[in-house]
Amino acid sequence: MGADKKGEQMEIVTVPSYEDMSLRAAEVVCEAMRQNPDLVLILPTGATPVGMYRELVAAHERGQADFSRVRTFNLDEYRGLAPDHPASYAAYMREHLFAKVNLAGQNTHIPHGVGPDPEVECRRYEAAIVEAGHGDLAILGIGQNGHVGFNEPSYSLRSTVHVARLRDETRQVAFDIWSESGDNPFPALADFPNHALTMGMGTILKAERILLLASGASKARALRLAVTGALTPQLPASFLQLHRDVTLLVDSEAARFL
Ligand code: PGA
Repeated sequence: MGADKKGEQMEIVTVPSYEDMSLRAAEVVCEAMRQNPDLVLILPTGATPVGMYRELVAAHERGQADFSRVRTFNLDEYRGLAPDHPASYAAYMREHLFAKVNLAGQNTHIPHGVGPDPEVECRRYEAAIVEAGHGDLAILGIGQNGHVGFNEPSYSLRSTVHVARLRDETRQVAFDIWSESGDNPFPALADFPNHALTMGMGTILKAERILLLASGASKARALRLAVTGALTPQLPASFLQLHRDVTLLVDSEAARFL
């Protein structure tokens, strides 16, 4: 994917369904690992990549995905949630990938959500990514409001790993997903984290290649603005237009305004 359109515009691959998106995304990751066994992956969480992780685990079980030398860096983590909190992204990654493939523990990286000084943690995490040579392949999702990682719509963007204040709509969407699961660890929306540690857009844009996944009609507006709109911190995903190797892998519902 991507080779023929490098540097011109984002490549858009539209597939019929969420399942197709998940399978194609996993194929991209598997192929990248075959090409480079020492791949550095930047990884997302949320509802969108669950199917991709499922397909990666299946590929691993078939002997088609070897993570033994791969290093991973997650995009973000909620401030205040320890790795054993069920809503932490550390828990999410263990459940969906880390416990199910041959990734070495020391090769997986997620910002620490708890600790005395989040600013120190942000600097440590940024330095670790720089030390790894930045990402070879960043897999991203997009929020309904156009956020990437937890780079929320704002009057300005931060380049490197930082503490971000979560917008109300972002907290509400995540809280509702937990409520729908029937297992919400937060008694009320007020208990949901207000902040997160996140890679900045600069951290993300330094990745060699970017694959953005989106599924469903709720993402269609943000995707259109990201692809054809002005570069604006009010829609952080629009800054992906600056990157020379971005592929959007989207299902037909998400692609309806493209
Ligand atoms: P989702 O989140 O996959 O749960 O829709 C994507 C995002 O907010 O980046």
